[in-house]
Amino acid sequence: MAYLKAEDLKPGMVLKSDFINERGSLFLAEGTTLTIHMIKRILELKISYVSVVLDSDVKEVPHPHKTTYEIKTENFLKAYNNSNIVVRELFESVQSGRRLDLDGIRETVGVFIELIYDDENIVPKLQRIHMSDEYTFYHSINVSLLSMLIGKWLKMPVKELRKLGYTGVFHDIGKCKVPGEVLNKPDNLDEKEWNIMKKHPVYGYNILKKNNVISKDVLMGILMHHERQDGSGYPLGLKGGAIHTYGKIVAVADIFDAMMSDRVYRKKRPPFQVAEYIADRSFDSLDPYISRAFLKGISEFFVGNMVRLNDGRVGKVVYIYPNQPTKPVVLAEGEFLDFSKKSDVTVVEILGW
Ligand SMILES: [Fe+2]
Repeated sequence: MAYLKAEDLKPGMVLKSDFINERGSLFLAEGTTLTIHMIKRILELKISYVSVVLDSDVKEVPHPHKTTYEIKTENFLKAYNNSNIVVRELFESVQSGRRLDLDGIRETVGVFIELIYDDENIVPKLQRIHMSDEYTFYHSINVSLLSMLIGKWLKMPVKELRKLGYTGVFHDIGKCKVPGEVLNKPDNLDEKEWNIMKKHPVYGYNILKKNNVISKDVLMGILMHHERQDGSGYPLGLKGGAIHTYGKIVAVADIFDAMMSDRVYRKKRPPFQVAEYIADRSFDSLDPYISRAFLKGISEFFVGNMVRLNDGRVGKVVYIYPNQPTKPVVLAEGEFLDFSKKSDVTVVEILGW
């Protein structure tokens, strides 16, 4: 890949690859058209080389070496793409009634364990990779990784993280038995269709139970990932302590990933809005212990990221209150904005997510 010296950047040039900020987080995504403000910020960050789409008369220079971030991103993408093939095969096996071959997924979950311990920027990468087509495969992988991350934040042992990884990958496998016209309907489901949809945790449980090698904890997690703390969930309407911990963890990961994704029936929401949604449900439908651990962990990804505000300004998240993970302090054009005290300004986008 060829690079241009940062001092030679001009407004209107288009980034050929992601631009990384000083914390190793994504700041500007591939395909972004550079503005004067962005170039100023790149120079402030003292980055020497940036990969841009060049006219033929501009001289490209070779980049001296790959950054740690680039190496980690390559590793991540390789693991992610491999897991996509494995998950796709699993879903196809269920649809065609073939025996499930679990060797691939065993290996994939092992790679995921390495990723969550090795790569502290996994969540921003996950969100960029999202595609609205083939949603089920990407969603299953994301929920698996996010569930394992939550397990890590809850200080669960690696053995448990592995089982959480399986629960995440398989949580929606029962949707293979839901007719396509119900599953992909762009409008609201009617009562009959909704009743069919609500059976997918039971379908998933039954499919995997036949396959004697899946542990009981994983089966329970799959069966209970739509149960809610206050009894408002399905299929059993269980409450609080009756819901398996894996079901509660996958529920949080599932909500976060689904709301962060574009779907046919709604647009994705900004990360702070999703975090706010989860925080609002921490004491009724979601387990407070799990959702607080998730919000604390996820908020650490926000610090240092550039954000766009509803008044058009771009700022940087400089602090997150430990007890208020959805209300950051943002530095924008020299002014510190404390969102725990402000209600007129909101974050509409995290740049680089
Ligand atoms: Fe589900």
